[in-house]
Amino acid sequence: MDDVPVITIDGPGGSGKGTIAALLAEQLGWHLLDSGALYRVVAAVALERGISLEDDAGLVAMATGLQIRIDEHAVRVDGVDMTRRIREEDVSEAASRVAARQPVRASILALQRAQRRPPGLVADGRDMGTVVFPQAPLKVYLDASVQVRAERRYNQLKNKGLSVSLAALLASIQERDERDKSRAVAPLRPAPDAILIDSTSMSIEAVLSRVLDEARSSGLTPST
Ligand code: C5P
Repeated sequence: MDDVPVITIDGPGGSGKGTIAALLAEQLGWHLLDSGALYRVVAAVALERGISLEDDAGLVAMATGLQIRIDEHAVRVDGVDMTRRIREEDVSEAASRVAARQPVRASILALQRAQRRPPGLVADGRDMGTVVFPQAPLKVYLDASVQVRAERRYNQLKNKGLSVSLAALLASIQERDERDKSRAVAPLRPAPDAILIDSTSMSIEAVLSRVLDEARSSGLTPST
């Protein structure tokens, strides 16, 4: 499977990477890995079952026993639809906590790498280019100002019918950024060979076309 091409898209929450990764996968006809959804599932089930977010052994035993199915429409865990639940604020917060734990990360590494299937994979997360697919031929690091990222998340949640305050969202995004960047294991940072894109004042279309240009020049897509 090592010859199957991978494009990694890493960056902080609200940078637009989820949207860009999904559009890119669709345009290329490639598979999509939303790795954040996996951490969200682990967190949501831990909350539901009352497993402490610091109990590494309990979290790993639970995570390795889950049947997780993610497609473009839904996230199902052991047959139960958790699509909406995993986007709620308490789960976002818990996901960033479980994601800082090395045993939890190790327990879902193989599952993530198994998504590398022909004809290609677009992988969205925090450590896709640095840890999970360090050999990927194209790595993108997408960033944006924290204010703009909070506004995007706010609108996303509002469109999904979830209600949160913008100020609370801004504070929690800042806190999660800090945790993702400063954690000892797989901290959020660009891979040394990543292409950096700041999407603060760019439209989704502009970011997508920039990434497609890069994919073309890396020989990953037909040049026409
Ligand atoms: O991207 P998303 O906000 O859905 O990710 C949820 C949480 O999972 C993040 O706050 C981050 O802490 C964690 N995460 C991670 N590594 C990834 C993807 C997500 O640590 N590859």
